[in-house]
Amino acid sequence: MATVIDGKVVAQTIRSEIADEVRLLSQKYGKVPGLAVVIVGNRKDSQSYVGMKRKACAELGIKSFDVDLPEQISQAELIKQVHELNANTDVHGILVQLPLPKHINEEKVLSEISLEKDVDGFHPLNIGKLAMKGRDPLLLTLVSKLCDPHYTKPACLELLQRSGVTIKGKKAVVVGRSNIVGLPASLLLLKADATVTIVHSHTSQPENIIREADIVIAAAGQPKMIKGSWIKPGAAVIDVGTNAVDDPTRKSGYRLVGDVDFEEASKTAGWITPVPGGVGPMTVTMLLKNTLEGAKRYIE
Ligand code: GUN
Repeated sequence: MATVIDGKVVAQTIRSEIADEVRLLSQKYGKVPGLAVVIVGNRKDSQSYVGMKRKACAELGIKSFDVDLPEQISQAELIKQVHELNANTDVHGILVQLPLPKHINEEKVLSEISLEKDVDGFHPLNIGKLAMKGRDPLLLTLVSKLCDPHYTKPACLELLQRSGVTIKGKKAVVVGRSNIVGLPASLLLLKADATVTIVHSHTSQPENIIREADIVIAAAGQPKMIKGSWIKPGAAVIDVGTNAVDDPTRKSGYRLVGDVDFEEASKTAGWITPVPGGVGPMTVTMLLKNTLEGAKRYIE
């Protein structure tokens, strides 16, 4: 049976380190880190993610600037709001929750976030730096989903390393090529000297490629797509999928499942992250860490 990597425990450790630093920063320098969380419209999933981010800010002593905008807002007006947050010296991190309504060009909006406040790491220039050898984004997050507090040590890598998994020289397969997870995850693994293959919707027989992987990063957004029989014995499996599936037995009417069939895969894998409770708790934690780092830049 695989060792289950508990993201909640790792995230909690990092969160208490952040809280200590936030306290110190406030007491010694009178500087309270600030995170602006911008949401457009009423998507239920986005509302729930944003709620978690704002709650976590409050728990750690980070000031949250809540910007709730109507679905019909124009792109120009949204960009104006971003510019105001860029200019606000009490705001050290800005995130615009995705996806945005169809009439808004996401890339255009993300490009307007000041580079040093880009806590999600979604600014095209920061992604570009991630792709280049020897350079890193200002705040390496993805990347928020996968990174740990030390800029160059992504959390999935940290989770793996803490579990005794070597990345250097290993075969890593990333399933999915989204701008938010798959693509940056593959670049991060490449930087960590893995041999990286990306599997996507046009890959024929992905199972044959995944079966070769020492490390699997699942970010396809397809519930339980990766079967237990696709996993190489002893492989490390990091499941970034968070898919809501109907579950009438729950009050909410749904439950979250990953891209990996956890029950099956955990019989073969060496290490595996659960959903929920694996990579998810790291996402919010890294935003907070990056906001703290953003604030520290003002006193150093
Ligand atoms: N939508 C889904 N995941 C994320 C995320 O990590 N950041 C933002 N801004 N939007 C998202």
